[in-house]
Amino acid sequence: LSGDQVIVVSNREPYIHQRVDGRIEVQRPASGLVTAIEPVMRACSGTWVAHGSGSADRETVDRDDHVRLPPDDPAYHLRRIWLNPAEEQGYYYGFANEGLWPLCHVAHVRPVFREADWQHYREVNRRFADAVVQEARSDDPIVLVQDYHFALVPAMLRERLPRATILTFWHIPWPNPESFGICPWRREILQGMLGSTILGFHTRFHCKNFIETVDRYLEARIEHEHSTIAYGGAETLIESYPISIAWPEGESGSHWPPVDECRRRVFQHLGLPEGHKLAVGVDRFDYTKGILERMHAVERLLEKHPQWLGRFTFVQVAAPTRGQLDEYREFQERIHRVAQRINERFGATGRPVVRLLASHHGPEQVNELYRAANICMVTSLHDGMNLVCKEFVAARDDEQGVLVLSRFAGAAREMPEALIVNPYHVEETADALQRALEMPAAEQRERMASLRTTVREFNVYRWAGRMLTDAARWRLRRRIEE
Ligand code: G6P
Repeated sequence: LSGDQVIVVSNREPYIHQRVDGRIEVQRPASGLVTAIEPVMRACSGTWVAHGSGSADRETVDRDDHVRLPPDDPAYHLRRIWLNPAEEQGYYYGFANEGLWPLCHVAHVRPVFREADWQHYREVNRRFADAVVQEARSDDPIVLVQDYHFALVPAMLRERLPRATILTFWHIPWPNPESFGICPWRREILQGMLGSTILGFHTRFHCKNFIETVDRYLEARIEHEHSTIAYGGAETLIESYPISIAWPEGESGSHWPPVDECRRRVFQHLGLPEGHKLAVGVDRFDYTKGILERMHAVERLLEKHPQWLGRFTFVQVAAPTRGQLDEYREFQERIHRVAQRINERFGATGRPVVRLLASHHGPEQVNELYRAANICMVTSLHDGMNLVCKEFVAARDDEQGVLVLSRFAGAAREMPEALIVNPYHVEETADALQRALEMPAAEQRERMASLRTTVREFNVYRWAGRMLTDAARWRLRRRIEE
């Protein structure tokens, strides 16, 4: 593919310029998508089209709305798209995050579908597709369309750039046909996505759900053997590509401060004595992440095993997210209340059991926490993949620490050496915590070493490489046929 132009389309931008106290600050968003795509873009120096959401974003672009990134070592272009408040409300908060997000996560939050949101969603998809067409230097670029914000972009591109290779990746789960069927615009969404040359999900299971959904609602020709769908004169390959992280540079990530130092710093900051046990959770403050269930498990652990009282702390980093939506605000307030209740209940020791850090934390701070912890808890109720569990494993070059992982995260399929739990089953999660707290160092090492081999090998370059190889094969086939 060398010489081919790669264009990425995502809603979230990789670097956000914010004006803080009169100065411009560069922030990295908490987004699994950005974590995964950014290193790939550095490697292939393409163009990234995304929503310019920062308060100083307009001041940092050139006349074509471009900015070179990363700021300290430019390797690719970001083309920013400006959305007015009504567009942001309808397309992003409305249809994408009150409609498609709960629809695809089947997270016991009822999806909301408003006609006006749908109109904005269509309109914004059109604007992003226009931007890709403007950015394209030839009639056959490779376009990587990212996530549920842009279900309609593939078909819009196919119409305008019929020779483009369109690789769409859906970063969140795909539900079964009955669940998806409640979306009033289910046919339009499916038709939009089938403009893709290749459509990727994290797991085979989500591919199967998608194929069954198309089978139910469109008159398409499905070739189960090859996992392709022919619709409207074009063919789409439906394939699973489990996403991952960039393995830290250097075999051992040796640029990091030693684990002992991280532990000392974190313990000092939290006022914890030596020998104390620390569990961490790191998430966006989202109702799909199982944060409530996790807290109940911590509470149950202390009921069943009071010997940990005063000797165990659970730190939850909860990055602010989508706070304009009632569902999110109510959920976040509820978690604050539950944390407070648990702390009051077990407060006799004078040391809070739950520390809720509901603010943005940079990668260094998070990494320090990962390295200081005895346990990392990932208890999503439903998650496409989840990259926190992979980041935790990558951070533990000392081969210590235990991962407690939800069976409902795509990552569970690749990481059986974790303690796998059903987060809805509080007793089971509490028992896993107890097992993790008592796990001998040798067993931790054995499990962690094996997890590290998997994540190092199946890293994000392999994810992108597999998609791009499939695209190259497809382009070659077309050239031969022409
Ligand atoms: C999930 C989505 C991403 C999104 C991220 C952060 O990982 O799949 O597309 O960027 O959440 O959410 P936000 O709405 O802040 O971009």
